[in-house]
Amino acid sequence: MFKKEVYTDRRNRLKKEVGSGIAFFPGNVEAAFNYPANQYHFRQDSHFLYFFGIDLPGFAAVIDFDNGKEYIFGNDFDIDDIIWMGPQPKVAELAAQAGITETGTLAELVNLMDKVLSEGRKVHYLPPYRGETDIQIADLLHINIADVRKQASSELIRAVVKLKEVKDEYEIAEIEKAVDIAYKMHTTAMKMAKPGVVEQEIAGTIEGISLALGGPVSFPIILSMDVQTLHNHYHGNVLEEGRMMVTDAGAETQMHYASDITRTVPVGGKFSQRQAGIYQTVLNANVNAIEAIKPGVKYRDIHFLAAKTIVNGLKEIGLMKGDTDAAVKSGAHTLFMPHGLGHMMGMDVHDMEGLGEDYVGYDEHTERSKEFGTAYLRLAKELKPGFVLTVEPGIYFIPELIDQFRTEGRFADFINYDLVETYKDFGGVRIEDDILVTETGYKVLGKPIPKTIEEVEKTMAEPL
Ligand code: GLY
Ligand code: MN
Repeated sequence: MFKKEVYTDRRNRLKKEVGSGIAFFPGNVEAAFNYPANQYHFRQDSHFLYFFGIDLPGFAAVIDFDNGKEYIFGNDFDIDDIIWMGPQPKVAELAAQAGITETGTLAELVNLMDKVLSEGRKVHYLPPYRGETDIQIADLLHINIADVRKQASSELIRAVVKLKEVKDEYEIAEIEKAVDIAYKMHTTAMKMAKPGVVEQEIAGTIEGISLALGGPVSFPIILSMDVQTLHNHYHGNVLEEGRMMVTDAGAETQMHYASDITRTVPVGGKFSQRQAGIYQTVLNANVNAIEAIKPGVKYRDIHFLAAKTIVNGLKEIGLMKGDTDAAVKSGAHTLFMPHGLGHMMGMDVHDMEGLGEDYVGYDEHTERSKEFGTAYLRLAKELKPGFVLTVEPGIYFIPELIDQFRTEGRFADFINYDLVETYKDFGGVRIEDDILVTETGYKVLGKPIPKTIEEVEKTMAEPL
């Protein structure tokens, strides 16, 4: 845990944002894997961690906005638990570490909630994402389980987003640690990317690095020669000379802060001319976008800057044609990059996405587009100092999408479909970094991970 003042300060700031009623924060419970006693690795809820820091299953917390009181609820371990799990801290000790003195059992939580409801007071809660939490909220608040997610408090969501989107110094230090673990994961993947190696050998090795140096990976590893499937989790291909391997992977620290890095390398260690052309275009988009980051700029504008860089590069290669601005305005670039430039990152790799992407990535001046591709922007709003976000442009050759656009005659003024046909076996390239928005600009977080063509080739030539 961080020192207790960190949690007290966060809760005090939350109290200033929410008018009245109480907030109920359910911590996560153990989740069964393939039978009840065989459980997934425990992961605490990120919002619970943010405000209360207790990284154990079976707790819940309440903040009363009307009288300022704060409570931690949980059951102390009995001797049966201790036999299997060793001595455990008492609920009161854990609460004290978070700066909270009022504690109770889970039965007492039921009593408190009944009292609050009988007084007709509002119970705010965040949208749950696990069935166990839906059931707990439905039981405690006596509401239909089908209504639980719909009745989440938009006032609490907005308040939590306002606080959590700006990272403090402790969080930034944690995220840098997570990127440093990703450095080791990605440079190892580069050195292993030789013809004949099965993708799974590399994916498993780098997942082990995450576990050895921090915690579990921050999301299931994407590692593939077939990254035209943007989130490809199939790792069964045998690497072939002439193809590119994309690794999109990050770690969690022990405090559960994430990294999310993507690198693309030529199998065997040397970029061909065709690979270098696409790679350099994506790299230019990544660098131009990063260099444009500063407070007050809308991330959607940076997304379009990256899109224009991609169009310019593809025009040089001959895959696109026509006026760059007009091409981007028409959406022609979405054939090659049908996703947004990036997302917020914190404890959740897509930070707070469970609260609703529009609350996190959009604001009252930034409405979500309905256009193909641009509609997928997870982050579009104006940037503020303290935001941590990803910059992850890519170029992909998705055979089904190429066929569909061509058949429909879409963007024929901007795309040289005959040449695009010859790239259908290419796969794709994505390059992703994790960036802090500073008072005046940006900082690329963590130890720099090889990214230029020269740096990647040099790293790939080094021994493991
Ligand atoms: N790195 C995976 C994603 O951002 O969706
Ligand atoms: Mn990402």
